[in-house]
Amino acid sequence: MRPGNTKAIEEMFNSISSKYDFLNDIFSFGLHRLWKRKLLDILNPTFGEKWIDLCCGTGDMSILLAKYMNSPENITGIDSASQALLVARKRSKQNYSSIEWINGDVLETNFTSNQFDGLLMAYGLRNLSSSYAGLREAFRILKPGGRAGILDFRSFEGSSLKGLFQKIYLSIYVVPIASLFGLGKEYSYIKKSLVNFPSGEKQIHLALSAGFKKAKYQTLAMGQMGILLLEA
Ligand SMILES: C[S@@+](CC[C@H](N)C(=O)[O-])C[C@H]1O[C@@H](n2cnc3c(N)ncnc32)[C@H](O)[C@@H]1O
Repeated sequence: MRPGNTKAIEEMFNSISSKYDFLNDIFSFGLHRLWKRKLLDILNPTFGEKWIDLCCGTGDMSILLAKYMNSPENITGIDSASQALLVARKRSKQNYSSIEWINGDVLETNFTSNQFDGLLMAYGLRNLSSSYAGLREAFRILKPGGRAGILDFRSFEGSSLKGLFQKIYLSIYVVPIASLFGLGKEYSYIKKSLVNFPSGEKQIHLALSAGFKKAKYQTLAMGQMGILLLEA
């Protein structure tokens, strides 16, 4: 599958939705929870604020946000994969049923401008047909002064030990394990999605061009992951 093919990406995430959370734990050794928590610690969402989780998938980040704020009110998760949202709805039914789940494309949302205090996107930006278009839409829907945190794999330019480690990790750990569950082809997409994914420096540049006032990038997980921090 080619990166940027929105329909194919939606179908792929629908097809892996039932195993997504389980495999996420295996592939990150459970550490994705710490990285997501770190993102929240930096952004410090507070009770009463209105937050959106773009590319929410099975709802991990939105539910963590609700736990963090001690309230599921004023939280919206949006994703194009309806099957992933079914999992999100099921997971949130008991304690977080007020989270609003929307099935839609984050590049073409119907949200009015300047309405959210905060925005999160975990492992979504890399999957969009255009990172710039995603950042533009994020900027549009945030209130002036609103804050955003975007977590994803780090993209390496040129050759580096860390970049080599990433390639090896994806090729000899992630894909073979995913293959055991019949999802090798789907998970081999991660490597492809990183080929044209902008580096941290480039993400900063794109975010500022999209309208954000402040942008900075910090790495996590010994340089394998990155967080783009933005202020609208
Ligand atoms: C790797 S998953 C991340 C899910 C979740 N944020 C997490 O951290 O577990 C990427 C998600 O992005 C969604 N996605 C990709 N392109 C999208 C688009 N244009 N609009 C909405 N969702 C999209 C996929 O359906 C998928 O659920």
